[in-house]
Amino acid sequence: MMTLNINIDHVATVRNARGGMEPDPVAAAMIAELAGCHGIVAHLREDRRHINDRDIRLLKQVIQTKFDLEMAAHEDIIGIALEIKPELVTIVPEKREELTTEGGLNVGAEITRYKDLTSKMHDKGIEVSFFVEPDNDQIDAAVACGADMVELHTGIYANARNEKDIAHELAKIDKAAKYAVTNGLKVAAGHGLNYLNVQAIAKIATIHELSIGHSIISRAVFVGLDAAVREMLTAMRNAKFDIGK
Ligand code: PXP
Repeated sequence: MMTLNINIDHVATVRNARGGMEPDPVAAAMIAELAGCHGIVAHLREDRRHINDRDIRLLKQVIQTKFDLEMAAHEDIIGIALEIKPELVTIVPEKREELTTEGGLNVGAEITRYKDLTSKMHDKGIEVSFFVEPDNDQIDAAVACGADMVELHTGIYANARNEKDIAHELAKIDKAAKYAVTNGLKVAAGHGLNYLNVQAIAKIATIHELSIGHSIISRAVFVGLDAAVREMLTAMRNAKFDIGK
């Protein structure tokens, strides 16, 4: 069964625009869970531009499904993860000037560091996923680090604008997902997925979970978060018969 994890960072972005208390990303996590999602994702950035330390601590207490803490491999954030103990950490590259995560991590460039990070997380019972491009070398590097999972970057697929490019990017994701599973990893996918482009991704049986934020929070502005989450689950189910049964 392919599962849906909701990224609630953008709820915190709206809250922080006024520096007050609302909307609260912790409340968003609870509503998303009640609507049937399978996990909550929050990215604690070094600059704390959206999710902050208070959010992470409360999320850990209230999430009843699965907490995926998205993070860069910075020492202070690693320390927070080890203390909070989410079910999963997803390691991403992070640049201060970027609007959102721009692409996959180069795991192969720093195997020793990522291997050490993975082993520290495993000691605390935390699973580790690396956010990578759909590329066999990166998957090999994640395996070498002892990862449990890779999250395949779907942003290039999501931005492709003609049938040939879309088919090309989908084939890359499909191949990489198969390669990762063959090498003992679980596979997630995410970035730029919306109610339309999710359907082709949801047909890839080797993908275990999706991580989706912007499109769901955007739709929630008009239809409410409960409906927005349910509609995404329906879009995934419609694409694939054995999903969400
Ligand atoms: N996965 C990762 C690793 C991300 O960095 C993001 C964006 O925060 C997402 C998934 C969700 O992307 P989107 O907001 O485009 O759905």
